[in-house]
Amino acid sequence: MSQQIDYLNPPLPPGLRRVSMPVVDATPPTLDGFGKLVADASEYSIEQMKGDEFLERPLTEPEIELLVDCLTSDAAQEEAMDVSTNSRSSEFDIATRALAGNGWCVVSNFLSQTQTQALSIECMAMHDAQLLTPARVGADRAATLLRGDSTHWFVPEALSTPQQAFANRIEALRIALNRDLFLGLVDSESHYAVYRPGAVYARHLDCLRNNDSRVISAVFYLNEAWQDAEGGALRLYLADQSYHDVFPRAGTLLLFLSAQFEHEVLPATRDRMSIACWMRQRV
Ligand code: OGA
Ligand code: MN
Repeated sequence: MSQQIDYLNPPLPPGLRRVSMPVVDATPPTLDGFGKLVADASEYSIEQMKGDEFLERPLTEPEIELLVDCLTSDAAQEEAMDVSTNSRSSEFDIATRALAGNGWCVVSNFLSQTQTQALSIECMAMHDAQLLTPARVGADRAATLLRGDSTHWFVPEALSTPQQAFANRIEALRIALNRDLFLGLVDSESHYAVYRPGAVYARHLDCLRNNDSRVISAVFYLNEAWQDAEGGALRLYLADQSYHDVFPRAGTLLLFLSAQFEHEVLPATRDRMSIACWMRQRV
């Protein structure tokens, strides 16, 4: 029997307050931008925050409120001013805060464009060489209608160079999540997935039957120049029965708590590539 952890409300070290990231229906600012704002808090006025050159887009009002709230609390000020020695500060701060508050978050530019492209080229080449396996056996037509992707599991002892870059970054994130949210994640497993046009994955939870080792689901997208009109969103069902669609754009990483969020993959009009990854606890 594993220890029960309240993932949505993990304990925080003394002196730190929990903040909730607002759910905004827009691309989140890059971690570089938002992270830098928090790091350089003392030098920023609210007007400067709104127009910061590191942001992909102007901050929304709820985000500004959150930021001001963070920056005016004593704990956050200390954290902000002492970036070099504070072991809690990391480039994944925004992601860990959002996960703690909402149970899910979207990180853009999780890998560099070159690294993402290398994964995309490798994934498509493996698909063309028929090295991916239908996730459900062909004989079972009903199962294919529920889940239509083909996958290739990464072999930890034999990662290609592009896979190694992804694995290194996931490992850094795993360590940050353990440190900040005490999740006790011991390892991860990943596979490439290709959805041909029209293929779907019906609404589901990522926890395997009789096995609650999967704690965090991470889906990384590899598709250059994806247009919303091409479909293929991952639809994440939220607690209030509303949903949030994440389009599979190259460089985007979606993170959510595996046991809490049902989700589905909607059909697309072109091939759709992703890496599905799960960070696991010992059970
Ligand atoms: C999965 C899954 C989502 C995606 O493999 O369990 O939900 O967007 N994948 O590829
Ligand atoms: Mn899933």
